Amino acid sequence: MPMLSLSWLGFWPSGASPWLLLLLAGASWLLARVLTWIFAYHDNCFRLRCFSQPSRRSWFWGHLGLVQNNEEGLRLLEDLGHFFLDIHVWWMGPLHPVLRLVHPMYIAPVLKAPASVVPKDMFFYGFLKPWLGDGLLLSGGDKWSRHRHLLTSAFHFDILKPYMKIFNKSAHIMHAKWRHLASQGTTRLDMFEHLSLLTLDSLQKCIFSMDSHCQERSSEYIAAILELSTLVVKRHLQISRHLDFLYYFTSDGRRFRRACKLVHDFTDTVIKERRQALTAQGVDNFLKAKANAKSFDFIDVLLLAKDEKGNKLSDKDIRAEADTFMFEGHDSTASGLSWVLYNLAKHPEYQERCRKEVQELLKGRGTEEIEWDDLALLPFLTMCIKESLRLHPPVTVVSRRCTQDIELPDGRVIPKGNICLISIFGTHHNPIVWPEPEVLSMPLPPPPP
Ligand code: HEM
Repeated sequence: MPMLSLSWLGFWPSGASPWLLLLLAGASWLLARVLTWIFAYHDNCFRLRCFSQPSRRSWFWGHLGLVQNNEEGLRLLEDLGHFFLDIHVWWMGPLHPVLRLVHPMYIAPVLKAPASVVPKDMFFYGFLKPWLGDGLLLSGGDKWSRHRHLLTSAFHFDILKPYMKIFNKSAHIMHAKWRHLASQGTTRLDMFEHLSLLTLDSLQKCIFSMDSHCQERSSEYIAAILELSTLVVKRHLQISRHLDFLYYFTSDGRRFRRACKLVHDFTDTVIKERRQALTAQGVDNFLKAKANAKSFDFIDVLLLAKDEKGNKLSDKDIRAEADTFMFEGHDSTASGLSWVLYNLAKHPEYQERCRKEVQELLKGRGTEEIEWDDLALLPFLTMCIKESLRLHPPVTVVSRRCTQDIELPDGRVIPKGNICLISIFGTHHNPIVWPEPEVLSMPLPPPPP
């Protein structure tokens, strides 16, 4: 009778071959990894059972493709909102769950957790990385905390106040363009296009003190930013282009690379010239010259920023922050403004009240300049802007990855390792938070006497 033998493994009779031993060790390691992964996957599924789930498209696709990144998609989310009022699980394919949070009570513990516990999730933000680098939007952990602390001074009111002149001027340029187009018989405008140029024009002046006249003629730099924004959105929608090495073979990938280089070169040149000026003049003279010219911009803030230990930002850090502000500042604001105009057009009675409020404010001034202190004197317009941002938030979702368990107020726990999608749109349209969320929830006050 044949004996039970390990000779097929090379253990017997002539001793173990090192290659076979290596193979065995490798296979055992792989098996252990697979078993650990299967165990972790099942454990995670078990722990997620306390959260409700909309029915999946299929076991393979999960909820992928169910919600398109368009108006119908948002409408579907609105409908789902009536059934899933706090947190629900969404499957991106058969293996990747994400939790969608649509209630402030459950969002708070996630957003209040330290940045190192809930870093931003690169699955959703990763495509911006080659362009924006480690700026505030994409950085995490200690780097984010340090930069956030340094940059908070950039938003001090004293620094923001002089920007009002820039905003007024950009708005006047846009209005002049509209008047000209109207006088030529144009009756339709793509608002988002015009407002994007307005916000980019303003930002380029606030960040770099540069005027490219991009609202009146084409600018290579501004065109590159618009192209990058479009390409990032497009890439999100094409799963076949998610892998870098495939994407950069496509014509879109090559356009992305070219535009990225152009934008980086522009920012690098400004930083280099400014640093040279700072070194040549010394900090005091540099600041005096800036104060006289009233041209203290965001690059200056970044160049001069230092922490308690005297550490400053490197040129690479400054570029990342400046590029981040150009992107984050233009797209969301242009979208927010477009929706404000849309809502005011849909509700002429509110539009009229806003117009009256501004006219009252400017009465007898002989100027159309809105000043910093005026902003607090436009309560009705402010309410309209806020209500428009509620109904149509420009950023519909932000994502975080939980590196530790997060306990929720009702005792349930978000298991560590999961991605949380904090749905700003879902929260703004949640009927528990806003009774009748689709209705403009703003009473029209009686007109002034
Ligand atoms: C209506 C206008 C705006 C909306 C709706 C908006 C929305 C948002 C949201 C939702 C985030 C959070 C992203 C996340 O945590 O994952 C964010 C972050 C950020 N936004 Fe905006 N934003 C607007 C205007 C601006 C402007 C004008 C600037 C700059 C000029 C700006 C710069 C930034 C930066 C730097 C971050 C990253 C902050 C950090 O993580 O510390 N945003 N914005």
